[in-house]
Amino acid sequence: MAETLATQILVILFCLSATAAAAGTKVYSFNSRNSTSVSSLNANDGICKSVVEPQGYACQEHTVTTKDGYILSLQRIPSGLSGQAADKPPVLLQHGLIVDGVTWLMSLPNESLAFIWADNGYDVWISNSRGTRFSRGHASLDPSDSAYWDWTWDELAAYDLPATFQYVHDQTGQNLDYVGHSQGTLIALAAFSQGKLLNMLRSAVLLCPIAYLNHMTSPFARGLVDLFIAEDLYWLGQHEFSLYGQVVNKLLEDICIKPGIDCSDLLTAITDPNCCLNSSRTNEFLDHEPQSTATKNIIHLAHMIRTGTIAMYDYGNENDNMDHYGQPTPPVYNMTSIPNDLPLFLSYGENDYLSDVKDVQVLLDNLKDHDGDKLVVQYIDEYAHADFVLGVNANQIVYDPLIAFFKIN
Ligand SMILES: *[C@@H]1O[C@H](CO)[C@@H](O)[C@H](O)[C@H]1NC(C)=O
Ligand SMILES: *[C@@H]1O[C@H](CO)[C@@H](O)[C@H](O)[C@H]1NC(C)=O
Ligand SMILES: *[C@@H]1O[C@H](CO)[C@@H](O)[C@H](O)[C@H]1NC(C)=O
Ligand SMILES: *[C@@H]1O[C@H](CO)[C@@H](O)[C@H](O)[C@H]1NC(C)=O
Repeated sequence: MAETLATQILVILFCLSATAAAAGTKVYSFNSRNSTSVSSLNANDGICKSVVEPQGYACQEHTVTTKDGYILSLQRIPSGLSGQAADKPPVLLQHGLIVDGVTWLMSLPNESLAFIWADNGYDVWISNSRGTRFSRGHASLDPSDSAYWDWTWDELAAYDLPATFQYVHDQTGQNLDYVGHSQGTLIALAAFSQGKLLNMLRSAVLLCPIAYLNHMTSPFARGLVDLFIAEDLYWLGQHEFSLYGQVVNKLLEDICIKPGIDCSDLLTAITDPNCCLNSSRTNEFLDHEPQSTATKNIIHLAHMIRTGTIAMYDYGNENDNMDHYGQPTPPVYNMTSIPNDLPLFLSYGENDYLSDVKDVQVLLDNLKDHDGDKLVVQYIDEYAHADFVLGVNANQIVYDPLIAFFKIN
């Protein structure tokens, strides 16, 4: 149990570090923030009205309901700033953990992947995972029900992605290019490994690919975790995982008041040093993000850190696993069964603590039989987790090569 809790806290810290690094702020400042600021984007307005249209782009709001009842919002930017309608295939942008589709739209239009690609003639679709601010609807459940939060990234791969793919495919009559960041890569890899979605897919771009997580370590954070082991088990009863939630804040508070732990130093120690963020946009980022996920999802990620496998959620005992999976251990997602001829573009950064270089190498090893001309691997010396989405130079370093990749495939 202690180990479980320890790894869970480690995950929280790393998730935080990605968010906080992007925000250029101190972890501890989450505690003092006014929690109403998270809703500064008006949920009634939606992403089109509040983020896309003010930049002069056309935008459509769509919703899709998953087989398990979650009502997800999708935004479509069907034309560039010039108003010229897209003449290239649909591209679906899937965000990572603890953020939502707004991440793709937060930088200046000349630096944001979504706007740049709309200007390049792509039909841009932006998805928002269940539980994030614009995807909190459900056919029968309410986010205040614990049952609403009974999911992990398994369900994002099994329900959210297929519903979204099918919807975009039906609306456009075309197969799509996919771009995932972080958890958005994990769920795609999981689905592809099961042969899902491939019939609607042209190519996939994986920014900060996540499949294996066991190298995600920092001695400092481990030490911190060890200090914290006996604390606050009760937070596990909280099914919605929100950095603005009282339980998580309490957890952070408890870490930060430990003797010998200085939270500003702590952050420096555990944060991936994003090289290229525009500091003037960092407060805005904190106001818009972070978003909720399921606590169960965080626990699932913790299992991955502990075991080094990419498998379905482990219910912790053979009987429960039998009930869910018909086998005593959770089924593994077999990365080597991703078809060798699927066009894949993987981009990862030297300084990314979440998508660790060693873990990416394990994934690449799984893909070693991939057709040489169908796999592009980009390694960026300076980049860390948030640079791929928010970096001021990501358009030249990452997005231009991506557009070249799309054109060939
Ligand atoms: C939080 O913000 C709201 C709206 O801006 C304001 O009414 C409220 O007084 C603030 N609360 C605190 C504790 O600062
Ligand atoms: C984007 O535009 C802004 C303001 O016009 C400029 O300062 C910035 O350098 C541009 N970024 C890139 C990557 O061209
Ligand atoms: C940074 O953001 C500010 C405020 O939006 C903007 O004026 C400036 O051009 C940006 N700089 C770069 C390099 O993008
Ligand atoms: C994974 O898939 C590959 C290719 O389909 C297969 O050869 C291998 O046996 C599978 N591994 C496991 C553990 O199922």
